[in-house]
Amino acid sequence: MPERNLQSTLNSVCDNGTSTRADVEFLLAQGDRDSTRRIMHAADEVRSRYVGDGIVLRGIIEFSNYCRNTCAYCGLNTFNTNLARYRMTREQILESVGNIAEAGIKTVVLQSGEDRDLDPFWLAQVIEDIKDKFDMAVTLSVGEWSEDDYRLWRQAGGDRYLLKIETTNPTLYGLLHPGMSFEDRLRCLGDLKSLGYQTGSGSIVGLRNQTCGDLARDIVFFKEQDFDMLGIGPFIPHHRTPLADEPQGDLGLTLRTLSLARILTKDTHLPATTAVGVAGSGDAVRSALAAGANVVMLNFTPPAYKRFYEIYPGKDDSAHSSGQIIKEIETIAHTLGRYVSLSRADSLKQRNENMLQKQTLVREN
Ligand code: 5AD
Repeated sequence: MPERNLQSTLNSVCDNGTSTRADVEFLLAQGDRDSTRRIMHAADEVRSRYVGDGIVLRGIIEFSNYCRNTCAYCGLNTFNTNLARYRMTREQILESVGNIAEAGIKTVVLQSGEDRDLDPFWLAQVIEDIKDKFDMAVTLSVGEWSEDDYRLWRQAGGDRYLLKIETTNPTLYGLLHPGMSFEDRLRCLGDLKSLGYQTGSGSIVGLRNQTCGDLARDIVFFKEQDFDMLGIGPFIPHHRTPLADEPQGDLGLTLRTLSLARILTKDTHLPATTAVGVAGSGDAVRSALAAGANVVMLNFTPPAYKRFYEIYPGKDDSAHSSGQIIKEIETIAHTLGRYVSLSRADSLKQRNENMLQKQTLVREN
């Protein structure tokens, strides 16, 4: 077999269809700066061609930090008894959604831990209220629930759902998520897709015992599942978790993972995740946007609660207002020759499917 070379492997991965998991694994393993730069550059071209130059803003409200789970990496895990727990009221949530609308943003992400006392009917009512009052896409990110609950929220007006697979290595998944199961996770993702949610998944990069082969499998899984959105961020150790002493995920590896997810999945919405910003310097969000990302999430959780939603440390250090943060993103966008988009940015997969149907119709006529 000819020796694998970076450029030819990158070309074959970019050429669509011919790429193998081994190619992706090889590219992920190229840790030098120049290889990372070339992979990012290829991803940026795919981003420009398939999703354009707009950097889409979304607003997130972390409405409850109660969690019944014990995920080894997450600061919200049940065993962290040192954390003050909160659950926002319907009125508080609607007020925060109002702030998002005022900023001109057209998507709200409602996120929480797996709050066992969250009443599905209460959440359905919150979704209905948001849809009544605001012209906004509603994205849910509240973890694993039954298909009936997912249906209830979809019928109430939920448009999108985020549920990261975290890792597609079932053994690693089991170690990180005591009491949970990889099969349940897949069941939930399948239910969400078949209920018509625009579905987002994603993974954590740089976990101990996670190999480039594992990450390559994650990316191939994302392509096969054809998710609408993917959140990819580095592991950040939290002092009150079993992984407190583990090293932080490597930023270069995270950027290569993000870039290869862009190259393989083409028109997916990919955020420059908060975790990237925390793990890197101030420049890291810019790097993620240059590596294939096209979305930035702004935190609209009220200041009184924000610091208690500590899935990892350093998440909410910015004392800047949303207006100031939007200005910062505009500056970054400008230096990249791009612009901030306030569009709803629904799934491009659906639009492409519609376009495909239209093309077929045109051809048939
Ligand atoms: N480091 C990086 N990402 C984390 N998440 C939770 N804890 C951590 C951590 N310590 C991510 C998970 C989860 C999302 C809400 O936050 O991927 O899906």
